[in-house]
Amino acid sequence: MTTTPTTSLPRHLTGNYAPVTDEVVATDLPVSGRLPEGLEGSFLRNGPNPASGRSAHWFSGDGMVHRLDLADGRALAYRNRFVQTATLTRGATTFDAEGRRDLTAGAANTHVIRHAGRLLALEETCLPYELTDELDTVGPIDFGGRLQTGFTAHPKLCPLTGELHAFAYGWTAPYLTYHVIDAAGQLVTSRDVEVPGSTMVHDVNLTERFVVFMDLPMVFDLALATAGAMPYRFDPSYGARLGVLRRDDPHGEVRWFEIDPCYVFHPVNAHDDGTTITIDVARYPELWTDPAAPATACLWRWTIDLERGTVTERQLDDRPCEFPRLDDRQVGLRARRAWTTTMPGASAEGAGGSITVHDLEALTSRTLHLGAGRVAGEAVFAPADDRPGGPGWLLAHLHDATTDRSEVIVLDADDVEAGPVATVHLPVRVPHGFHGSWLS
Ligand SMILES: [Fe+2]
Repeated sequence: MTTTPTTSLPRHLTGNYAPVTDEVVATDLPVSGRLPEGLEGSFLRNGPNPASGRSAHWFSGDGMVHRLDLADGRALAYRNRFVQTATLTRGATTFDAEGRRDLTAGAANTHVIRHAGRLLALEETCLPYELTDELDTVGPIDFGGRLQTGFTAHPKLCPLTGELHAFAYGWTAPYLTYHVIDAAGQLVTSRDVEVPGSTMVHDVNLTERFVVFMDLPMVFDLALATAGAMPYRFDPSYGARLGVLRRDDPHGEVRWFEIDPCYVFHPVNAHDDGTTITIDVARYPELWTDPAAPATACLWRWTIDLERGTVTERQLDDRPCEFPRLDDRQVGLRARRAWTTTMPGASAEGAGGSITVHDLEALTSRTLHLGAGRVAGEAVFAPADDRPGGPGWLLAHLHDATTDRSEVIVLDADDVEAGPVATVHLPVRVPHGFHGSWLS
């Protein structure tokens, strides 16, 4: 028998980035510590898991959703399922044989959310895929034919209106399109947003009164696309700009503000007071320019003064951060707390990850270092009561390289340094992934 030496595989297919093959259901899982009595619900997380064992890039593996159910101080069940996309089931590609765009083609691997009663697996190049609570795939949804583009993995759910504010970007014009799904799940607004070219747009900002688009210089590169690589390269000459749209005039003018070239996958949060918009982001000074030097994001704040027509840019912290999350009930509103996670880069193999709680008003932070070989993914907030900004817990998948086992850790959201109050030991390894939701 011959096996492929793992050293020949790229990093995104080795260690805990390596995919798993089995779909499992396991019940009554062992728990260390004590699960909070009030923590009742399901923790879902999506991530790339190439069914063939191979993918060109970490971002392109087939989506697999993992679900952990908690109630009554017990870990009731774990299950994982592939998202049965058209790409996975019948090899659909972005452009079909006739050169037409196939919006069902994609990995659906980036996020999993619930909106208007539907559970959706999201990835920015394709239509949302609806899942059942058991994680079986219902199929792609195009909102009755009204969605004519892909759909971001990071729509913003307004806690005041229940609307989902989303967008899509494309290689060909229109390069950027804005969508609003109302609280009942109907697509009620779609409009083009004019930008100079095709850039990679991963996320968007929402406040009570505004949507703020990020047109940043990760520019589409046809030569890279033709070579089968990630088709975007950092090109500061493109410039960088923030586009402000009034929510009460969704087809109105987008007002652009130039900023210094940078890249942002993930904003932390944004809020406005009518004339000033404050946006906190995990900002990369540049991205993927040097394969030997891993890109690192730090916490920055952009402040847009709509009366003066200015933007100020300010670094808030000099330590790495990614996967920012907050209490979802505060999205677009002034929020004091946010949480970020760091995963060691390729140059720090074997190092441990960390989880940080940030105070966005005092501009302080406290960090839990997870220890050598222990790496957590995005930490998702689960509220303890019905007060936005109130107490709660953080849940995160964690992989321990020394045992090659996976856990879900539960932290007190305000006291992360104390370490897990409970650890759920999973029966199978869960590869590093992207984003998820707590559904209570
Ligand atoms: Fe993301």
